[in-house]
Amino acid sequence: MSDSEGAGVAERPELLIVENLQKHFPIEKGLLRRTVGQIRAVDGVSFSVRQGETLGLVGESGCGKTTAGRVAAGLSRPSGGTVMFLSGGARIDVHALSRRELKAFRRHVQMVFQDPYSSLNPYLRVIEIVGEPLEVQAGIRGAALRAEVEPLLEAVGLRPSYTDRFPHEFSGGQRQRISLARALALKPQLVIADEPVSALDVSVQAQILNLMIELQRRFGLSYLFIAHDLSVVRYVCDRVAVMYLGRIVETGASEAVFRNPRHPYTEALLSAFPAPDPDDTDERIVLEGDVPSAANPPAGCAFHTRCPYAVGACSGDAPRLGEIAAGRLSACIRAGELTLQGRAITKPPWAAAQAGGSSATGETGRSPASA
Ligand SMILES: Nc1ncnc2c1ncn2[C@@H]1O[C@H](COP(=O)(O)OP(=O)(O)O)[C@@H](O)[C@H]1O
Ligand SMILES: [Mg+2]
Repeated sequence: MSDSEGAGVAERPELLIVENLQKHFPIEKGLLRRTVGQIRAVDGVSFSVRQGETLGLVGESGCGKTTAGRVAAGLSRPSGGTVMFLSGGARIDVHALSRRELKAFRRHVQMVFQDPYSSLNPYLRVIEIVGEPLEVQAGIRGAALRAEVEPLLEAVGLRPSYTDRFPHEFSGGQRQRISLARALALKPQLVIADEPVSALDVSVQAQILNLMIELQRRFGLSYLFIAHDLSVVRYVCDRVAVMYLGRIVETGASEAVFRNPRHPYTEALLSAFPAPDPDDTDERIVLEGDVPSAANPPAGCAFHTRCPYAVGACSGDAPRLGEIAAGRLSACIRAGELTLQGRAITKPPWAAAQAGGSSATGETGRSPASA
């Protein structure tokens, strides 16, 4: 298949457009909290999410994925750039909204967080956790609230009778189901999921990913799916954006990017994840060292300090993310001359069971302790 194999998705209208987004955190020192520098957590990031699409935002820890997701969701203000949300013919500049408008806007974009143990308030019952957005945004209470929450629990594969239980009565996977039910309460168009399965056991990861795919089909959702684990991303994402030190270095259709990476950082990330096939003996590229500090990023291409293909010019001007094939962007100045090693994408074994059937409701009927 060609690089433009994501064409089906590419024709859909855009829902979220992030342009030149920046988020810098001041570094303060001393009693007077003098600003002595800036952490460039997100440093000029552009991407879009189309209707019904899943865009994966991937990269090592510390690359700015969570920060970008929070700003895109309207939970945190950018230092620069724009977040546009297109809905019903309107073009909403999210960070130009007043506080009140922003609160009303939040119903369109919801976030699911990584750790289902800390993201749910332990003192609230499921009905309060899942129903809170409905109460706050729509003033729904009492029996009417229960009537809204019970079908949401069913949609995520939990028993409606769980409404009066507390988070500690549930497993990690079930808690993430509760998080999803809460995220869906206001019928959002976009869900930003920040490493939604990273804290879960592998077997439970599969159930939650299958559930997310089912919910996407059922409710026509778009996802911005943040992850550092490419084996997860390759299964759920239509397109991926690879992030390194506050910038996007490569984007394209998932299959094309994984099969035929066009940026050395993508190649290194792909090389790092364990082979599902023991016969896969391709040499591993070991990424030396950690991600450099976002307070003092290397000049030129920020990856040049760890890149096996770096030449003198890589530490010169900062490279631009440019189109190198249809629907394919790379920020590597050597993208045209390098032949990089991809990885075959075969669906993981647990994904096979998903076709046609509904394993997403697999937890219904089990005791809360079982998954
Ligand atoms: N609230 C904050 N204050 C200061 N620095 C922050 C804050 N949040 C994140 N950072 C820094 O910004 C960079 C990107 O962090 P983050 O967005 O969490 O990356 P990721 O999600 O990819 O791991 C890191 O260097 C991190 O330490
Ligand atoms: Mg993060």
